[in-house]
Amino acid sequence: MIDKRRDASASRSALLDVLTRKPAGRRPPVWLMRQAGRYLPEYRAVREKAGSFVDLCYNPELAAEVTVQPLRRYDLDAAILFADILVVPHAMGLPLKFEEGEGPVLGTVRSDADLAALKPVLASHEVKQVCRTVELTRAQLSPDKALIGFCGAPWTVASYMVAGGSSDRVMAKVAAYQRQPWFVALIERLVAESIDYLSAQADAGAQAVQIFDSWAGDLVGSELEDFVLKPIGAIVAGVKARHPDLPIIVFGRGIGMEQPRAAALPGASAIGVETETDLAKLPKDIVVQGNLDPVALMAGPDVVRREVERICTAIDRQRHIFNLGHGIRLGTDPAVVGAVVDAVRRFDD
Ligand code: CP3
Repeated sequence: MIDKRRDASASRSALLDVLTRKPAGRRPPVWLMRQAGRYLPEYRAVREKAGSFVDLCYNPELAAEVTVQPLRRYDLDAAILFADILVVPHAMGLPLKFEEGEGPVLGTVRSDADLAALKPVLASHEVKQVCRTVELTRAQLSPDKALIGFCGAPWTVASYMVAGGSSDRVMAKVAAYQRQPWFVALIERLVAESIDYLSAQADAGAQAVQIFDSWAGDLVGSELEDFVLKPIGAIVAGVKARHPDLPIIVFGRGIGMEQPRAAALPGASAIGVETETDLAKLPKDIVVQGNLDPVALMAGPDVVRREVERICTAIDRQRHIFNLGHGIRLGTDPAVVGAVVDAVRRFDD
């Protein structure tokens, strides 16, 4: 029998319905962090054509192509813009390249003078190209598929800017503990640039945005307060002032039982939670996105089906967005990613 409710809502986005607390369907909407990427052969082919990862980020036709690739393979509810959190520091003027096998190499900010040399992102070639990718992608997606934009949160982005690319956050943590004036000003500057950047993505057609604070779990106490929660709260407020209806997902990775405080930031629509977060212990009135272990995908389809079942029974589907606790890992079998999406879609009591 045809499910009339689902039929009638075929032109609506299941993801946006949950984010805006409209009555949701019978299974949670699903998308996966890093759903576009090197585990997909069709991604590797386009990346080869683009030349490098950075070239791919600024080639709107090819970036739009890799954004929609996972939706051709899998019955996902959303596409996430193909770009990187390091677009913002790059657009501010820091050189950026990705070394094969080593990750990002970025220019550094470690003084007042370095900070003063940074440019606003909005006029940059980089941000124009990313916004063009948003437009081209939106034009290729049907109305039931949402397009998610994103940026990195100030702490995570600043940690790369201080270290010069590698994910060693020790120098940034020292600057944070010492409350170095240039560091405090860098966080403030990233708040302002991120508001402009996310607003530009929304103007170009992004229908929801996610703020990635991948290293939020590095900080505790007043540093967590001042360099993670307050800056994210300021971005949410700034974006909401320009786009009151734009849903905003906050992914503060590693903050464990401080997650409810991220959810309580005025204007935040949902929180993304890592694998280690116990869904049953979260407040019952917040929309939660997560939290399948990306490593479970490497253990095969049977493990994946069991874990999907466990997660989907742990949380009320009216306020659940199915996702991973972190991005899909390199070397994941694309067929197992398909098994995740199918298992969520079949989850129907
Ligand atoms: O999720 C998606 O599919 C959308 C695109 C996206 C990428 N990076 C593409 C990417 C998003 C949302 C990001 C976010 C991002 N980038 C984060 C936050 C999320 C997280 O993973 O914690 C961070 C910390 C970065 C910085 C970054 N980008 C690093 C450290 C690396 C190198 C790691 C590696 O796997 O080599 C990247 C590269 C990157 N970003 C790739 C992709 C598809 C791989 C690059 C390639 O094609 O070679």
